[in-house]
Amino acid sequence: MTPSLCRRCVALGARILIEKSAGMSAGFTDAEYRAAGARIESSAARIWAASDLIVKVKEPLASEYALLKKGQALFTYLHLAAGPELAQALLKRRILGIAYETVEATDGSFPLLKPMSHIAGRLAIQTGAYFLQSQLGGSGVLLGGIPGTLPGHVVVVGAGNSGAHSVQMAAGMGARVTVLDLDNRKLEMLDTEYRGRVVTLVANPGNLESAIADADLVVGAVLIPAAKAPTVVTRKMISRMRKGSVIVDIAIDQGGCVEGIRPTSHKSPVYISQGVLHYAVPNMPALVGRTSTLGLTQATEPFVVQIVSKGIDRALKESRGLAKGVNTQDGRIVCEAVAKALQ
Ligand SMILES: NC(=O)c1ccc[n+]([C@@H]2O[C@H](COP(=O)([O-])OP(=O)(O)OC[C@H]3O[C@@H](n4cnc5c(N)ncnc54)[C@H](O)[C@@H]3O)[C@@H](O)[C@H]2O)c1
Repeated sequence: MTPSLCRRCVALGARILIEKSAGMSAGFTDAEYRAAGARIESSAARIWAASDLIVKVKEPLASEYALLKKGQALFTYLHLAAGPELAQALLKRRILGIAYETVEATDGSFPLLKPMSHIAGRLAIQTGAYFLQSQLGGSGVLLGGIPGTLPGHVVVVGAGNSGAHSVQMAAGMGARVTVLDLDNRKLEMLDTEYRGRVVTLVANPGNLESAIADADLVVGAVLIPAAKAPTVVTRKMISRMRKGSVIVDIAIDQGGCVEGIRPTSHKSPVYISQGVLHYAVPNMPALVGRTSTLGLTQATEPFVVQIVSKGIDRALKESRGLAKGVNTQDGRIVCEAVAKALQ
């Protein structure tokens, strides 16, 4: 939460507890939260114990499971399709788990997934460009090239929210860009927008194989809502890539769309497999805490305000989109896609 959202909630009658230094990497001080009417609490455990609603960014860590209070509401990213242990912890404590990623807008889109996807999509290109540098084990390709040289080739698989922003950044840097998707309407939109500056391809195995074999940087940006990501980039495809090329699998938070990929961390962001650098950090937006906080909060604010002003039961009854976010309730998984993924 930003101090400004705290102020709005306090004005609506809520008591807000903020964990000490919670806003630090977003550039918000404890003093700003205090001035907004929140109380700063140094113990996270005490916040969990004292609150009816917990608003977070990422899903609870294993070390936090014991802090979940029976019947409490939790509003955060949950990604339960890729987290069976967390799902069990939420069910055991009968948590009302409202997942940012399945909250829906009236047009069926996912408004709370969008800002983080935009950020991850944009970051994928600057991160990929960085790891292509020679001193980091990369192939030494400058994505934009220089006059007289071939620019780097960026292949983006998935033309949704994250993929489209990867395309925008890569094209802006002067790279050659190929984008693949199963949804022709998405490809048509990008084709119209970039007027031939970007190559669009249907994501069938033949197109994927030939595009990836020639890629310096592959961005995995596919999503099947609330389900495990499909494997679209196979080991065989990777074996044909040039050594030192880079794969950034944004979809790693849903299990990844690259065969055999495993999550990496900000501390140790890449590993090399088949001579190709694999980057698979599930929380890329943490790299840009300020932009992420402002971007996420502007999207969550209307929902938080509804919950605070109406109470959670009425808010869920009156907002179909918010109700779509409910993944766990009364010890049951109530989101069909999540239940299917966890079978
Ligand atoms: N790693 C991170 O830090 C981070 C941050 C934000 C989002 N994400 C994740 O990024 C992923 C993508 O999110 P998004 O918002 O861009 O989703 P989106 O729904 O906007 O786009 C996904 C696209 O994938 C396409 N697609 C689905 N299956 C495909 C297949 N087999 N081949 C080709 N295309 C296929 C869809 O048609 C769609 O256009 C999600 O898993 C999301 O959770 C990760």
